[in-house]
Amino acid sequence: VDVEQQGTVALLGCGLMGSAIARTLSEAGHDLVVWNRSPEKAQALVGDGVRAAATAHEAVAAAQVVVSVLSDDDAFRGALEGAPLQGRTVVNLTTLIPEEVTATEAWVTSRGGRYLDGVLMAYPADIGGKDTVVNYAGPAGIHRELEPMLLAIGGASRHVSEDVRAAAVMDVAAVGMFTIPVLSAYAESTAYALSNGVPEDALHERLDRGLRSLRNQMEKILRAVASGDHETDQATADTYGAAARLFLTAVQDAGHRGRLLEAAVAALDDARTAGRGHLGISAVAAPVRHAD
Ligand SMILES: NC(=O)c1ccc[n+]([C@@H]2O[C@H](COP(=O)([O-])OP(=O)(O)OC[C@H]3O[C@@H](n4cnc5c(N)ncnc54)[C@H](OP(=O)(O)O)[C@@H]3O)[C@@H](O)[C@H]2O)c1
Repeated sequence: VDVEQQGTVALLGCGLMGSAIARTLSEAGHDLVVWNRSPEKAQALVGDGVRAAATAHEAVAAAQVVVSVLSDDDAFRGALEGAPLQGRTVVNLTTLIPEEVTATEAWVTSRGGRYLDGVLMAYPADIGGKDTVVNYAGPAGIHRELEPMLLAIGGASRHVSEDVRAAAVMDVAAVGMFTIPVLSAYAESTAYALSNGVPEDALHERLDRGLRSLRNQMEKILRAVASGDHETDQATADTYGAAARLFLTAVQDAGHRGRLLEAAVAALDDARTAGRGHLGISAVAAPVRHAD
């Protein structure tokens, strides 16, 4: 693939993630101009095919494609306010919530730029890997045009939707509402078990079986929430709720807070109050109103 066809790339934000992306793009042969608010992080990347710009405006002016890895929306707008975006394509890898994505796309396009949203499902050490995923949303044409560069950042990246909010919605759902609570719950559960004499090895041995069972239940929950059919002949939300309340007593009596279990008890109580306790555990989810 001839990366030169894509022209110079301006990379804004040389923090942990931005620096990893800059190194990967430069190794893939891209001509880069990097900018960072504190200049030493940009200077540290300078080398073959990589130069540092003194201002974000200067970096944008020198490039056809602008990749932002700035920390948040304020940093993004602060850096790009007044920059020459006309005719340029912005790939925004800054973490944003869906409403911010819509507003930022409008902000960029009203200044004559094109906009593709990207959500990094990866750590800096994963950048450049063949299994690394970045989800992109917005015009598929921009994604196609930039695909060689986007695949250099993450080899398993994909375009998820023309709806520019879609990758951010998936991020809120997968990372915000699932990974973060599940990992926090696992940390709390591990501390409770270890401090009550369960050996680390025994917990380690359970990892694979636990994951298989979780996957199995997740598949059933996905079907139930999507179809609205929460009937079960296995275990009702009320049964889970009663057990969860009992477990929470044990956890709190042992001096642990059990915050995530507490949240699950609240969710199951809500289901019971709403008259959904006879259904499966998937009934803790509010009924889905599909977006058109
Ligand atoms: N690290 C990860 O594993 C990971 C994973 C997924 C997504 N992300 C997302 O990637 C983005 C960058 O994360 P990171 O890990 O690289 O964070 P980081 O190391 O803290 O870097 C933040 C970057 O934003 C710049 N910045 C912050 N405030 C600014 C402002 N007001 N004006 C101009 N520049 C500003 C910083 O410049 P200075 O150096 O001058 O402070 C730095 O370049 C975030 O949106 C993050 O959520 C990161």
